[in-house]
Amino acid sequence: MIPSALINVMVKAARRAGRSLKRDLGEIENLQVSMKGPANFVSAADKRAEEMLYDDLAKARPGYGFLGEEGGAREGTDKSHTWIVDPLDGTTNFLHGIPQFAISIGLLREDTLIAGVIYNPANDELYVTERGKGAFLNDQRLRVAGRKQLNESVIACGLPHIGRGNLGLAHRELGAMMPKVAGLRRFGAASLDLAGVAAGRLDGYWERDLQPWDLAAGMLMIREAGGKVSGMQGSDDPLKTGDVVCGNETIHRELLKVLKAVP
Ligand code: IPD
Ligand code: CA
Ligand code: CA
Repeated sequence: MIPSALINVMVKAARRAGRSLKRDLGEIENLQVSMKGPANFVSAADKRAEEMLYDDLAKARPGYGFLGEEGGAREGTDKSHTWIVDPLDGTTNFLHGIPQFAISIGLLREDTLIAGVIYNPANDELYVTERGKGAFLNDQRLRVAGRKQLNESVIACGLPHIGRGNLGLAHRELGAMMPKVAGLRRFGAASLDLAGVAAGRLDGYWERDLQPWDLAAGMLMIREAGGKVSGMQGSDDPLKTGDVVCGNETIHRELLKVLKAVP
């Protein structure tokens, strides 16, 4: 992919914030950590990364709106473009020194996702996508996996944890899914779960109660890699519902069938 000016801006911002996160990862013990709510850590690293991303993106595209996990919505003069940014997706992993976390930057034009970058600075994996131009991991074009049966599929999911999510429903969904699949995984960074499906490493993924910044870049990544993404109803928008199901067309359908049958 010959990167457009837009992708260059996003990649440059992600790499700069990524360097900062990587430095902070090395000093994790000294990191100043505050609590936003039960088990919802927000680190100084997180806030610093978001400010860097805001500065770089606002400088390159003055006027675009910005929705970030830490700073919330900042209106722009250009009402049709909005950055949707998670400066550190996988905070719990980060704080435990587990190298599965990422910066996620999506761009909305009106209601359409037009570009996305997901960057894991720990292993230097950079995912980029632009609407109509495909999805790439470190310059290699991505295609969702081709498996058609759940019994040969590896599926990622999200899990409730202290103070978060519907535990009973999660138990029922896991109970329904576990006996049908080749393997279930819980990695702890939604943007990388979506990127993993786009890359064909994972056959599918579902999670509930996510936020637009977890989803925006990864949803476009999957669509541009030939996959299907929706909410739990099959054609609803995860950016609106917060719930996501994805995979190739067949696995997406099979996952929905299992999940919809859960009481
Ligand atoms: C979280 C991660 C995690 C998902 C949570 C998200 P954060 O984002 O994506 O995988 O299960 O629901 O909130 O808090 O690390 O940015
Ligand atoms: Ca997140
Ligand atoms: Ca975050």
